[in-house]
Amino acid sequence: MRIGILSSGGDCPGINATIRGVGKAAINSYDMEVIGIHNGFSGLLHKDISTLQDSSLSGLLTLGGTILGTAREKAFRKMLKSPDKKDQEIIKKSYHELGLDCLVCIGGNGTQRTTYQLSELGLNVIGIPKTIDNDVYGTDVTFGFNSAVDIATEAIDRLHSTASSHQRVMVIELMGHRAGWITLYAGMAGGADIILLPELGYDLNVIKKVIEKRKKTGRAYSIVAVAEGIEVEGGTDRHHPATYFARKIEELTGFEARETVLGYIQRGGSPSPYDRNLGTLLGAHAAQLINKGKFGRMVSVKGIDMITDVPLSEVADKLRLVTPDHIMVKQGKKMGVSFGI
Ligand code: F6P
Repeated sequence: MRIGILSSGGDCPGINATIRGVGKAAINSYDMEVIGIHNGFSGLLHKDISTLQDSSLSGLLTLGGTILGTAREKAFRKMLKSPDKKDQEIIKKSYHELGLDCLVCIGGNGTQRTTYQLSELGLNVIGIPKTIDNDVYGTDVTFGFNSAVDIATEAIDRLHSTASSHQRVMVIELMGHRAGWITLYAGMAGGADIILLPELGYDLNVIKKVIEKRKKTGRAYSIVAVAEGIEVEGGTDRHHPATYFARKIEELTGFEARETVLGYIQRGGSPSPYDRNLGTLLGAHAAQLINKGKFGRMVSVKGIDMITDVPLSEVADKLRLVTPDHIMVKQGKKMGVSFGI
């Protein structure tokens, strides 16, 4: 069999470990030919490819980013949505001209939706979920998340000493386009006093009271972790949420506040050992599915380490978000962590 692999959407730590997992299992166990497709779906359309050998898949475990390159492919998505059958024919033609028996698409929610659309066109596809945001529906965890939480936690740890020295409120903004998973996990691990998530909303009055109470009870500083996707007055186009909350806190409490936007640091660099192993297992499972001829599936994680797969039709157009009854939220509240509500 001849299979193609591409990565699409924002990069994250662990994509290379996953490409290696698919490729090595495909070549060494199933005698497949493996083609790397460059820069997401545009590489498929423009036939921008290279052959991946067992030797070219060495040394990838520790490498951040993606050796295949990635893109947020709007034109391609438009094509798929187009009622014009001709556009869809171009995509199919490209797949067949490359001589592919299956296309493996590594990506987040948008990519899984596109992959599903390709399967609806009759192409053999497998989706592999990836994102630091951890919000892909149909899997309990995505690789990239654990690495991002490590980095975000270290950043919060480092804010504690400067916050207490200056008796300031430190607001740190963490990534998560719609989902607060990184902020929840890093906020809890880093001992944030207030954790603000898009899924839960917030009341500025509650935030004010928590900070004032901490001061009254001998803790003159506070750490606030906020997810970038939270809605703020004026919209996030005008303000980073961290800036918005820092200014509001100063206004409401009279305490000095500073903001930190951690940004792309959370996405770059080497994957954690957990993410390397997760990518490896998901990749190897994808190769196994292809060998069995089981297409139209997304590989997924259930529980701590069960690797399985779900139909792409169940995944497309859904998000996995933090719920108010998540154990981390419930137990956090019992310990006195504020979620701003
Ligand atoms: O989906 C991962 C993510 O890093 C989000 O946390 C963030 O909102 C977004 O990607 C940033 O996207 P871009 O790479 O397009 O700036």
